[in-house]
Amino acid sequence: MMHLLVTGGAGFIGANFVHDIVREHPTTDVTVLDKLTYAGNRANLADLPAERVRLVVGDITDAGLVDRLVSQTDAVVHYAAESHNDRSLYNPDPFVQTNIVGTYTLLQACHKYNVRFHQISTDEVYGDLPLRSTGSTAMFTSDSRYNPSSPYAATKASADMLVRAWVRSFGLRATISNCSNNYGPYQYVEKFIPRQITNILSGRRPKLYGRGMNVRDWIHVSDHSRAVWEILMHGEIGQTYLIGANGERSNRDVLALILKLMGRPADAFDWVADRAGHDRRYAIDATKLRNELGWQPEVTDFEAGLQQTIDWYRAHESWWRPVKAQVEAGYRVHGQ
Ligand code: NAD
Ligand code: TYD
Repeated sequence: MMHLLVTGGAGFIGANFVHDIVREHPTTDVTVLDKLTYAGNRANLADLPAERVRLVVGDITDAGLVDRLVSQTDAVVHYAAESHNDRSLYNPDPFVQTNIVGTYTLLQACHKYNVRFHQISTDEVYGDLPLRSTGSTAMFTSDSRYNPSSPYAATKASADMLVRAWVRSFGLRATISNCSNNYGPYQYVEKFIPRQITNILSGRRPKLYGRGMNVRDWIHVSDHSRAVWEILMHGEIGQTYLIGANGERSNRDVLALILKLMGRPADAFDWVADRAGHDRRYAIDATKLRNELGWQPEVTDFEAGLQQTIDWYRAHESWWRPVKAQVEAGYRVHGQ
């Protein structure tokens, strides 16, 4: 048996990873360490077998707790984070605490017990790229320069730098992955795709920031999980792998597809205030991951993946309805 400590496993991507482990890897057990912030939800793990998955409610900055849990594990997969750009603009403090101090706390414990560590990070550490309409064909690679725009991205970049230093200075057995924008089940309703789907399902109008021209590189969360597993098992220590599925689309195009799939008129949405410092375009070149580890995405039809995601939110209204009004009230304060 292998025992994994998955931080942030009650959040969107972490919970999907834990579900996939239980389904695909019967000789792996999981302890989830999660603070259950507004973004974490016990219900995300509720239907999993208790003998395979244990939830410890706690904070990754709690050095005593982290030390004890890391001493009992074979590897740590570190998803826990404050993850929303908009929130980081209004209150960066928990981002610094969780994303930087929390990662440092985990690294110290992994170093002490010589435990394998995998850092889940984001393409946003690289800043943004010019729109393709300017003639730019640039994409991020693991050699791209770190150039974060938001407090969220800056704290993720800081955490990645700590991981690199612990590998170099202390010989920590660690890898990093920087993934593009995820979509799929269990994503908290403040994020772009679930916000628009649940706006429509609850009789509200979708909201598009700025001119809607910003481009994100979408990947289904299940493809992210499979890539993380490959890196954990076969990745080279000290390496950074970029994860992406060639899913570049403007926000306007994604919203148009959601409106079409949900049978709404093309103009049934509101333009709202833009995000400060809004990154223009992200695009991942995942050649290294594909060539070295043989990974490739399975959900290559974005429209089908989106339809499946819409169906999930339709079928799980009791999961998102209790927090929806409060999330929208939070956005209204900022004209969004
Ligand atoms: P999320 O906000 O849905 O979940 C984060 C989880 O971390 C929650 O369960 C929360 O309770 C937990 N958490 C927060 N602070 C904690 C603390 N101090 N101690 C313990 N647990 C804590 O986020 P997500 O979208 O699932 O993102 C997970 C990871 O993936 C993050 O590291 C994020 O940077 C990275 N990532 C996200 C995306 C994306 O598109 N969402 C893309 C690339 C990388
Ligand atoms: P988001 O899901 O917050 O992810 P990220 O900031 O990590 O890319 O936002 C995705 C894109 O959608 C981003 O360009 C901002 C935009 N956006 C909207 O246009 N409307 C919205 O209601 C939200 C939440 C985001």
